[in-house]
Amino acid sequence: MNRCKVISISNQKGGVGKTTTALNLAYALAEDGKNKVLLVDLDPQSNLTMCFGIDRPEELKTTIYDLMMCVIDERKLPNKDEYILSFNNLDLIPCSIELSAVEMSLVNVMSREIILKMLLEYLREDYDYIIIDCMPALGMLTVNALAACDSVLIPATAQYLSAKGLELLLQTIARVKKRINPGIKIDGILITMFSERTRLTKEILNLMNEAYSDYIRIFENKIPVSVMAGEASYRYKSIIEYKPTSKVALAYKDFGREYLGYGD
Ligand SMILES: Nc1ncnc2c1ncn2[C@@H]1O[C@H](COP(=O)(O)OP(=O)(O)OP(=O)(O)O)[C@@H](O)[C@H]1O
Ligand SMILES: [Mg+2]
Repeated sequence: MNRCKVISISNQKGGVGKTTTALNLAYALAEDGKNKVLLVDLDPQSNLTMCFGIDRPEELKTTIYDLMMCVIDERKLPNKDEYILSFNNLDLIPCSIELSAVEMSLVNVMSREIILKMLLEYLREDYDYIIIDCMPALGMLTVNALAACDSVLIPATAQYLSAKGLELLLQTIARVKKRINPGIKIDGILITMFSERTRLTKEILNLMNEAYSDYIRIFENKIPVSVMAGEASYRYKSIIEYKPTSKVALAYKDFGREYLGYGD
């Protein structure tokens, strides 16, 4: 039986902490070798790839772009060790700006929504979790991520939720569920860059709880706003590695436990 869970980290809004969450959740799940975790960078900006110290992703021999093109053209995939990069406990399929060309290539492809799903079928058996870092858009790449995953985790700032920006994402997920991936689930919303001090944030959270909590889980653990988050990625580290005792690192660890269902 296949016990791998594929998680899409999605929100079409830019800069809400998708990449930071993908990296730190992966790190929390993989800590001490507890789980085998693969990260997939599915954003042509390649921020996640750069978090691993790869400053020039365009020089990589094989990226997610090449793999998706192999599936599209029905060519044989390269050996896994040619495209999976390993860093201690974490594996990564990197990305480069080339991926932006895939959206064009997909236009005339049969089954274009499930190219990534077909690719991940080869990899599920090797991992406990596969985490896909999506780009800030709801185009064909994000649809591929939604079609390929078992569940979606939505990082969002309180401000974003109050602006009703979530509706479009939820509609897209509902459409994918109806037409392509009936098993897809929404894990919930992780509030990022949270500042308890502002009254506004609290009011927004109350409103949000009223609006959404009946049908979407809003995780108890919230990720506080901290400059540490940015500093860590400049040093090519997850926050958990960079400053394990910082509030953000602890928040991601607690969230990791909550995510796994242990509570906090
Ligand atoms: N908890 C936090 N507190 C403060 N800054 C943060 C926090 N989490 C992430 N950041 C910073 O905010 C910026 C955006 O974060 P991140 O890249 O994770 O968002 P994203 O949703 O992946 O963005 P994009 O939509 O461009 O892919 C980065 O500079 C990151 O270092
Ligand atoms: Mg990102």
